[in-house]
Amino acid sequence: MSRSAHPAGPRHADVLPEGHYSAPPTDLNVLDHKVWAQTVGRGEDGVVTVGGVPVTRLAEEFGTPVYIMDEADFRARARAWRTAFGADADVFYAGKAFLSRAVVRWLEEEGLNLDVCSGGELATALSAGMAPERIAFHGNNKSVAEITRAVEAGVGRIVLDSFQEIVRVAHIAQSLGKRQKVQIRITVGVEAHTHEFIATAHEDQKFGIPLAGGQAAEAVRRALHLDGLELIGIHSHIGSQIFDMSGFEVAAHRVVGLLKDIRDEHGVELPEIDLGGGLGIAYTSDDDPREPHEIAKALGEIVGRECEAARLRTPRISVEPGRAVVGPTAFTLYEVGTVKPLEGLRTYVSVDGGMSDNIRTALYDAEYSVALVSRASDAEPMLVRVVGKHCESGDIVVKDAFLPADLAPGDLIAVPATGAYCRSMASNYNHVLRPPVVAVKDGEARVIVRRETEEDLLRLDVG
Ligand code: LLP
Repeated sequence: MSRSAHPAGPRHADVLPEGHYSAPPTDLNVLDHKVWAQTVGRGEDGVVTVGGVPVTRLAEEFGTPVYIMDEADFRARARAWRTAFGADADVFYAGKAFLSRAVVRWLEEEGLNLDVCSGGELATALSAGMAPERIAFHGNNKSVAEITRAVEAGVGRIVLDSFQEIVRVAHIAQSLGKRQKVQIRITVGVEAHTHEFIATAHEDQKFGIPLAGGQAAEAVRRALHLDGLELIGIHSHIGSQIFDMSGFEVAAHRVVGLLKDIRDEHGVELPEIDLGGGLGIAYTSDDDPREPHEIAKALGEIVGRECEAARLRTPRISVEPGRAVVGPTAFTLYEVGTVKPLEGLRTYVSVDGGMSDNIRTALYDAEYSVALVSRASDAEPMLVRVVGKHCESGDIVVKDAFLPADLAPGDLIAVPATGAYCRSMASNYNHVLRPPVVAVKDGEARVIVRRETEEDLLRLDVG
């Protein structure tokens, strides 16, 4: 990333310190819709609005920090996936990115299915009335209780992740007098170009059964012979925050190759393949994500072509986007508490949240953008690091960004693209209370996940 240009102004060293920043934008008041939710804009008074509601009003009504979700944007993105993949494919939203009962209802209304990966996510989906056959259950170590609950509820599929689990699910289903639809998750040996912790298709890791060495073929052999299981397909998820389509294409190619081997060995054509989630989103203006219709087209073409060559019926494709549906739809609204210029280095801006509401910067070195949203400013850009209130120097929300040099305590700033893997990975570190999620649409704002209270914390502390 470029870091050649640097701003003039009294609060800057001539040479910028080490960092990932690009040149400061020419106008810090402009909001780039690559990273901001669709209905976000700056009013004539300089205050940023979302869904027609000023952020100052949101802060007053709901407090800060707060995740603000643009419901219209969420629905539009969900619909874009649904439309891109059409009637011959299924879109499973990956609930791990962010799940709440309101989200489940939006998904149902927009025609998406749901991928859950724990008893908690399953309980949330069922309690919101999601049709169980539209739920896929994932995980590399589902407990017996979780599997039992999923089978009893009648989930549409369980994605098997190990040899032990093949037997475990078969026994549970059989003992409940059921035949459970399952897929087998395989690792296709693709090196996805993303952070090591979120790449999942290389062989040396905990998920899936390797295609290499015939292990996946052996898993299929076993699953086909167990009465409690109906093997409906093969699953591959190569990783997350991926921009390069070639990994998906190689994965699709190898999954179809396995379907062909299964047909040749068993005379069975499995009807479905799932190619997982992983499409990247823009966190800064430098990112250029692909659109759902591009990935739908690329996957459809490669699967169609490979199946034709292998003389296989084209299987029904499913995908599991999480981040790309919810990520861009929300921003985190913070109040600035302190502004601390460090001569020749940068200015530290402390906000009233931090690594407890966004662990991604500390965990993955993730990059984020930030803007002053409670007013416009014509002040010079200053290089800042936005940090939280936790007792840890790695408590960084935005590592390198520019904010106006007249930034002061009491200003509201917002970090966009925090809809995915922020609230869902939030913690109580330092007994800081997890922020609420507020959905905004057509001038109305409503809490969909309430703010945690000290009472909530103390209720768990039963010593
Ligand atoms: N399907 C499966 C089987 C997955 O494991 C995941 C994500 C998805 C779908 C959705 O992937 P997405 O479309 O959201 O990239 N906490 C990390 C991301 C971990 C992703 C885990 N699995 C982060 O904050 O970047």
